[in-house]
Amino acid sequence: MTAFGNDKRSTKAPEPCIFIIFGATGDLTSRKLLPALYNLARENLLPSNFACVGFARREKSNESFRAEMKDAINQFSRVKPIDEEIWKRFEQQIYYHRSEFDSEEGYSSLKQTLATLDQQWGTKGNRVFYLSTPPSYFPDIVQKLKNHDLIYNVNEVKDKWSRIIIEKPFGHDLKSALSLQKDLTSHLDESQIYRIDHYLGKETVQNLLVFRFANPVFEFQWNNRNIDNVQITLSEEIGIGTRGKFFEEAGMLRDIVQNHMMQLLSILAMEPPTSLSAEAIHDEKVKVLQSIRPFLEKDFDKHTVRGQYGPGIINGQEVKGYRQENDVNPNSNVETYVALQFFIDNWRWAGVPFYLRAGKRLPKRLTEIVVTYKKAPGFAFEQSGKEINPNRIVIRIQPDEGISLNINCKVPGQNTQLQPVKMDFRYGSYFEATPPEAYERLIWDCLAGDSTLFARDDEVLESWKLLTPILDYWQSVKPEFPNYPSGSWGPIEADRMLLTSGRDWRVL
Ligand SMILES: NC(=O)c1ccc[n+]([C@@H]2O[C@H](COP(=O)([O-])OP(=O)(O)OC[C@H]3O[C@@H](n4cnc5c(N)ncnc54)[C@H](OP(=O)(O)O)[C@@H]3O)[C@@H](O)[C@H]2O)c1
Repeated sequence: MTAFGNDKRSTKAPEPCIFIIFGATGDLTSRKLLPALYNLARENLLPSNFACVGFARREKSNESFRAEMKDAINQFSRVKPIDEEIWKRFEQQIYYHRSEFDSEEGYSSLKQTLATLDQQWGTKGNRVFYLSTPPSYFPDIVQKLKNHDLIYNVNEVKDKWSRIIIEKPFGHDLKSALSLQKDLTSHLDESQIYRIDHYLGKETVQNLLVFRFANPVFEFQWNNRNIDNVQITLSEEIGIGTRGKFFEEAGMLRDIVQNHMMQLLSILAMEPPTSLSAEAIHDEKVKVLQSIRPFLEKDFDKHTVRGQYGPGIINGQEVKGYRQENDVNPNSNVETYVALQFFIDNWRWAGVPFYLRAGKRLPKRLTEIVVTYKKAPGFAFEQSGKEINPNRIVIRIQPDEGISLNINCKVPGQNTQLQPVKMDFRYGSYFEATPPEAYERLIWDCLAGDSTLFARDDEVLESWKLLTPILDYWQSVKPEFPNYPSGSWGPIEADRMLLTSGRDWRVL
């Protein structure tokens, strides 16, 4: 049994280890990583022999780092306020190591510190290195970890292990993704690399596999005989805020579509895996990505739409356009909206369009999958002029996590009227528990050596193979930006893309 077993987590247990965070004074550490570790400690899910070391360049003592992390947990943990008893024990296991990423001396002193902590906490030489740093540092950090024997060769060292967690972006196109992969695998085995995509840690995303493969009622008709189209929408109300510099280099396709949305798509469309092992699941996801019809030059304008928000109104508030945001080029052509149409050329999905859209400054924040079934023939009803709505399954990834099924019903009384109604399952009200944060789940899985919910190298590369030509094409054609006002559902071309086949975007 693995990540999707029916026990509390999986039957694998996290082993004694030291968790080393590179970039420990950064935003991700205080907003996500330390709150996740604290919540794991609170639920007794950390290994009993455990220590955490923060690595960054600012001058800090263990005490001042602990105090800052306490504040961060109080601010960002899903369970607040901090439990003083638990914190008192947990903070003893947290340390700070000051160094530059490129300082050889910093790694040799780290090695000594870790050896001392192994003695103190019984962590047996096992290591997780979390690289919460800009990706340009990955190759150098890995090289220096190797130089100082801090990462182990899996074929030679059997009595202890080392793993690396890296944060997206995993390259910014196919070429750079291949180059990153080469740098990482010159010192690490693929089994030691955990590429985090926090979407995969969300309960609702994990539940997609359960929904499909534990419920034959849906899986039996999950194919082109019954399904008309599939839509995945990831919409954000927020603009780019303080991330202008980062976003100018990334854009929506790289930041959201290449990873989160392609992951959702592959889980939705994959064949049942032969087992629930990480490898079996990754194998099926990769086959989906390999079956997606590549975009040809003539398809770019028909099957891809990009947009950039202009000024507008959201929740009654006037907001500025992308080009007016801080750290953004006033003539920027970076996209804040993407809509794509895919076809998956295999027996299950031939002919079914998959529509993906992701945008900033849209009317509401949501991530939702809408699976629309083919319409009932409906002759009896339509003869009397009644419109029959197609059935729809709506999977709400966030917020208001849950699943609903839209069916047609007869309106009570002396009539033949039909009305669409909704059968609704909501996580919040049904299970009455706050689900763990994605980072809790993913860190725990890495400590337990389970990579099911992480992206494998070939998934990342296949996704780049498909999307890089779009980026190249966009680079060659100047867009008319801005082309949608903040607070709208994006550029009109995205509606047109569906209208040509008589369909429309759905948010239910
Ligand atoms: N924040 C998020 O929600 C989020 C989400 C997804 C992915 N990511 C990715 O995660 C990574 C980290 O994000 P972040 O927001 O935490 O970044 P950040 O706030 O900019 O923090 C960067 C960290 O790296 C350290 N650092 C930078 N250069 C260094 C050097 N030469 N030597 C030693 N330490 C150095 C900084 O230390 P000092 O402060 O001491 O200089 C700081 O701790 C980024 O690659 C980002 O793309 C972040």
